[in-house]
Amino acid sequence: MSNLLFEPLTLRGVTFRNRAWVPPMCQYSADHLDGVVTPWHFVHYGSMAKGGAGAIIVEAAGVTPEGRISPRDLGMWNDEQRDALVPIVDFMHSQGAAAGIQLAHAGRKASTYPDLGYGNEGSLSESEGGWETLAPSAVAFPGLNTPRELTEAEIGETVTAFADSARRSMEAGFDFVEIHGAHGYLLHEFLSPLSNTRSDSYGGTPENRARFLLEVVDATRAEVGEDVPVLVRLSATDWTEGGLTLDDTAQLSGWLKDHGVDLVDVSTGANVVAKIPVGPGYQTSFAAGIRKQADIPTAAVGLITEPFQAEHILATEQADVILLGRESLRDPNFPIRAAAALRHEIDYKPTQYLRAHK
Ligand SMILES: Cc1cc2nc3c(=O)[nH]c(=O)nc-3n(C[C@H](O)[C@H](O)[C@H](O)COP(=O)(O)O)c2cc1C
Repeated sequence: MSNLLFEPLTLRGVTFRNRAWVPPMCQYSADHLDGVVTPWHFVHYGSMAKGGAGAIIVEAAGVTPEGRISPRDLGMWNDEQRDALVPIVDFMHSQGAAAGIQLAHAGRKASTYPDLGYGNEGSLSESEGGWETLAPSAVAFPGLNTPRELTEAEIGETVTAFADSARRSMEAGFDFVEIHGAHGYLLHEFLSPLSNTRSDSYGGTPENRARFLLEVVDATRAEVGEDVPVLVRLSATDWTEGGLTLDDTAQLSGWLKDHGVDLVDVSTGANVVAKIPVGPGYQTSFAAGIRKQADIPTAAVGLITEPFQAEHILATEQADVILLGRESLRDPNFPIRAAAALRHEIDYKPTQYLRAHK
């Protein structure tokens, strides 16, 4: 039986074997605080590659040291970080999974404790290895240090940092990149009027607030060339009066499309503290709205955990790709399991494990 979850998807020069992908998920496991991957990352990403994912997007990698959420984040600001990723990318390819990486700057939400369940929250002090945070405006995220407003020159330098990281990603062998424009990190902070109170050409109107992201997109495209998909993750709503709405994000997605973005990865929230109505597929309607209003491919994410739920989202044309986050942590073999549930024959079960699938 054929179905949509296992139908290949082509974006520019890349054909993905299916639409069950893994979204970026920080592991906070750069043990030497140098942004370099460790054996944990090899096993973590490798397990999902052999589990049948169509693509795996490596967790948020800081484009600068100050752009990390915590000292244990990955980075892509130097060649050592790039080179250490090569065996992971090669292994993903050996298993037939496409390899992507999320390029990120955490802005005013940088310099925090790694979210590893130790109970520490908030900003790191300098003596704990913390650093000055940077943002569109000197407006703090509740509970975190007040950031310093970026100068226009620093915005330009950050655009270059994204582009340099995109170039390194290509050198490492990645098939595509995702720019992190969501979750209250730097680019989202510029997009949202709740965190951007600038009066220069990067603040005020929607066009001005989008300027930084569009500059990052253009600079990234110039580095990766025409055959490589560029994805952008957005928070479609701030879930707060006076914040970004679906209509704002659909308008922005239209501009992203005009600038050659190939797919919008539609998440929500996290720029301010807000009440989010969480439940199965709670963000999918935003992926559907953006897909329809901006006529651009979208990825749906957020509490999608069941094969038939994923298939239904595709069949009802709400999204083009399904991202399975925590479900992939619970079961890195989700795509293989989903293929069995949907009675779809796939030819990429690891031959080493064939006796388990008889
Ligand atoms: C451990 C963990 C780390 C995450 N790190 C990132 C990240 O690096 N970048 C990002 O955009 N989202 C990150 N997220 C959000 C996920 O990509 C995803 O959007 C979210 O978990 C909702 O999807 P799910 O319900 O399928 O898990 C993270 C989520 C988890 C659980």
